[in-house]
Amino acid sequence: MCGIVGYIGPRDATPIVLNGLKKLEYRGYDSAGLAVLQDGRIEIRRDAGKLARLTELVNDSPIHGTPGVGHTRWATHGAPSARNAHPHLGATGRVVVVHNGIVENFLELREELTAEGVVFNSDTDTEVIVHLVEHALASGLNLTEASRRTFREIAGAHGIVLMSADEPDKIVCARIGNAGGVVLGLGEGENFIASDIPAILEHTRRVIFLESHQMAVVTKEEIRVETLEGAAVTPKIHNIAWDAAAAEKGEYRHFMQKEIHEQVRSLTETLAGRVDFKDGSISLPELHLSSEQARAIQKVTITACGTAAYAGMVGRQLIENIARIPCQMEIASEFRYSNPIVDEHSVVLAISQSGETADTLAAMEEGRRKGAILWSIVNAVGSQAMRIADGSIPMQTGPEIGVASTKAFTAPLVDQYMLAILLADLRGTLDEKTRRSLVADLRLIPDVVGRALKREAEVEKVALALKDVRDCLYLGRGINMPIAYEGALKLKEISYVHAEAYPAGEMKHGPIALIDENMPVICIAPKDPWHDKMISQIQQVKARGGMVIAVATEGDELVAGMADHVLWVPECPWKLSPVVTVIPLQLLAYHIAVIRGLDVDQPRNLAKSVTVE
Ligand code: AGP
Repeated sequence: MCGIVGYIGPRDATPIVLNGLKKLEYRGYDSAGLAVLQDGRIEIRRDAGKLARLTELVNDSPIHGTPGVGHTRWATHGAPSARNAHPHLGATGRVVVVHNGIVENFLELREELTAEGVVFNSDTDTEVIVHLVEHALASGLNLTEASRRTFREIAGAHGIVLMSADEPDKIVCARIGNAGGVVLGLGEGENFIASDIPAILEHTRRVIFLESHQMAVVTKEEIRVETLEGAAVTPKIHNIAWDAAAAEKGEYRHFMQKEIHEQVRSLTETLAGRVDFKDGSISLPELHLSSEQARAIQKVTITACGTAAYAGMVGRQLIENIARIPCQMEIASEFRYSNPIVDEHSVVLAISQSGETADTLAAMEEGRRKGAILWSIVNAVGSQAMRIADGSIPMQTGPEIGVASTKAFTAPLVDQYMLAILLADLRGTLDEKTRRSLVADLRLIPDVVGRALKREAEVEKVALALKDVRDCLYLGRGINMPIAYEGALKLKEISYVHAEAYPAGEMKHGPIALIDENMPVICIAPKDPWHDKMISQIQQVKARGGMVIAVATEGDELVAGMADHVLWVPECPWKLSPVVTVIPLQLLAYHIAVIRGLDVDQPRNLAKSVTVE
């Protein structure tokens, strides 16, 4: 997912753009560049590599001026290189573009333009955009109209920002489809454009989120939003509660470590304003759910990707167990092409930290097409998955910067627990005593998570024992089976270890052949209804010479006597136990990655939000 920053106003754009790009580094990228209007000319600095390289270029050959745009690129078409890095200039050298997304018809457009004599200087799909704009300008249109015509000619999903040396008082931008957001920041006598909030938060908290198929003409005094057809739009102005510090690392080495430790606060925020411990009730006002609507629901399909999907695997069990509504979890990239059996009596519940994951948004659109009710559990305020849903549950964790998702995994576990209680209550299928007991259990969450986090030093010792591991298995059952998948993903994505998760009961049907002294097995065995089954699983692994690392409830001497290492967690009601059993696995993956000297916050090949298919 590419990062975009734009500035127009009286100040020098160069440092504003560079600092903004630094705040977007977490999105993952392989090249970077910026363009600034200096003395009537567009000056560009760009190269493959990280922002340190771009800063070096700017220091070696300074540029000052306004407006300015910048870009961090995650290559899709054309290898990471200086010639393929954004920004891209047109043939006249008077117009420049930065772009997030894929021009799906770029080959035919490139052929047409080449036939008309246009010379391309890169291998990217993006370059066709600036040549199309220049063609429209040459026909007599101004930048706004030339951009509008171009936005309607290109296929695919995009975030686009253009500026011209001949119209230096404006920047034109657009959002088309789901290629990541375009956020407009409102300053005093200056305005900002970015692909995500952290890039502009130090300058303003007043933002506008462009909707799909909208464009904006941004001057230092005004932001004019229109549809691509030219109809004026009165956008909603959001006030972002986050502060710039919240998006910084603080005393932690990595964003991921900070966000793991933020989970006491983030889960407290998740509960805030939604749980009345006195009368044992739950309210989720952003769902706009009536008792009548709740009673009409016949099925819930949860859909998401990656970590969010594993959160959905827990939620599926909670909704069936507490609300007794048939519930399934479908990986979004599969659901969108599965011709799903959903209708007006179905809920499609999307879970997404970024709210911009292309597969998840496409799954939502498939649900919409089939008439389903769309709900979403989302962290990024104003993101597409929040905006297109009929009802939402904001995760309320604050910005999650580390590519490996942590607090945005535990928040939806609690959100789905609360949702299940609310659904059952509205449908009249939950007696008061049970409801009060389930709600009361929520009060334990911040404390048990805090106590699990306090054991970080013990986890670090186990990480040292596993630092050279090449393969490992994660096993879980029941409500904690999804935690095996999430724990394995954490290790895979930041330590690059081949970690495989399995429902523990499946081991005897083949995978147990993998067990030997070189295959450490992480067994998630807290005091839950499947505890005894996990004891038996641990015995099976030990009998074959395997090393067992057990996640166990404090005081469980039976497990301690069998396992080679124990990752202790506090006692917790089993329906909420995934919130706490995942903590040591987040820390384990983190510390193994640190010991291995890997890039924890920006793991290779990964992006924070996957806005392409
Ligand atoms: C999780 O650690 C990964 N970064 C990845 O699996 C992520 O959960 C997935 O891409 C979904 O992202 P989303 O929650 O923003 O939709």
